[in-house]
Amino acid sequence: MEKTSPPETFSIMNVDDFAKLFGTSSSEVLECCSEELASLDPHYRVLAGDERDQVLLQVLAKIDDPGTPESGTSRLPDWERGWGENLDEFVRSGYDIEKLVPKYFKKNVPARFMGEYILPIDPQFVLVCTRMFRRWIFGRYLAPYDTIYEFGCGPATHLAFLAQNYPGKKLVGLDWARPSQEIISLLAQHRGWDIEGRHFDFFHPDPTLRLAPRSAVYTFGALEQVGGRHGEFLDFLLREKPAICVNVECLCEYYDASRLSDYLALRYHRRKKYLDGYLTRLKELEARGRIEILASHHQRFGNMYDDSNSYVVWRPL
Ligand SMILES: C[S@@+](CC[C@H](N)C(=O)[O-])C[C@H]1O[C@@H](n2cnc3c(N)ncnc32)[C@H](O)[C@@H]1O
Repeated sequence: MEKTSPPETFSIMNVDDFAKLFGTSSSEVLECCSEELASLDPHYRVLAGDERDQVLLQVLAKIDDPGTPESGTSRLPDWERGWGENLDEFVRSGYDIEKLVPKYFKKNVPARFMGEYILPIDPQFVLVCTRMFRRWIFGRYLAPYDTIYEFGCGPATHLAFLAQNYPGKKLVGLDWARPSQEIISLLAQHRGWDIEGRHFDFFHPDPTLRLAPRSAVYTFGALEQVGGRHGEFLDFLLREKPAICVNVECLCEYYDASRLSDYLALRYHRRKKYLDGYLTRLKELEARGRIEILASHHQRFGNMYDDSNSYVVWRPL
């Protein structure tokens, strides 16, 4: 990708910044993410003064807007409609995987970075950084396992990444929205991948679903949708005992409400009724000897509203 030559006031997101964001070393980022690093324009401007105020106002307006939808059972038709649109475009394009990218990745928008609001030059900054993070966390924690399940997989872009980068694995994508299963069956048909879609509801886990021995489970911005109702899914995981669980989610316990950008993210999080008390519950389970937490980290990065890519990695005992 051709890089632009920005004026002096621009900062650069460098390898050390990504290492800090991901909670790892710079050498690990360099080793695993060179492809994404090469495709990203890393220049950004920290917003200040009136420009920053405009972002703050936009966030506050979203929180106060009575039309801002809350997550939960009533949102199923929205997810079916959204993934149905991706499915249609995917088919019309002749099965182009880029058409599966969720439309909530907006172009040319401000982002959150280490408590600042920034305006990146790269129009797809948040998407590319998320992909970079995905390559790192999947390589670190999922790569050793032969069967991998994504719960709340939506349009299956992460599973497509796994199929392309780790051939030979058995992949299973689960979601309550039917178009997700249609997308996955087309991926299996047209790409020849060993991938299967299944209907699954976090609120009512399928009692007949059995996980393969020594398999890995992950969620990526999906458990956020259950609010405080993560008990049923956790019981399912404790029963099925996957070898590892990776949750990339907005973990609200990490926000420090004495900082303005965290305070706003937390208000937005509560307004949306996003994942509540999950990390706290995992820590309780660890204290009772039911699970082991292997890693957990606040990734201080995301779209304008919240830090959606924090993570916790754990295993049932
Ligand atoms: C923000 S999207 C993330 C999708 C996918 N993980 C990704 O990163 O592209 C949230 C996903 O959670 C799914 N979801 C929401 N509530 C659910 C529930 N109760 N059971 C199963 N899936 C659910 C939605 O259908 C949607 O696919």
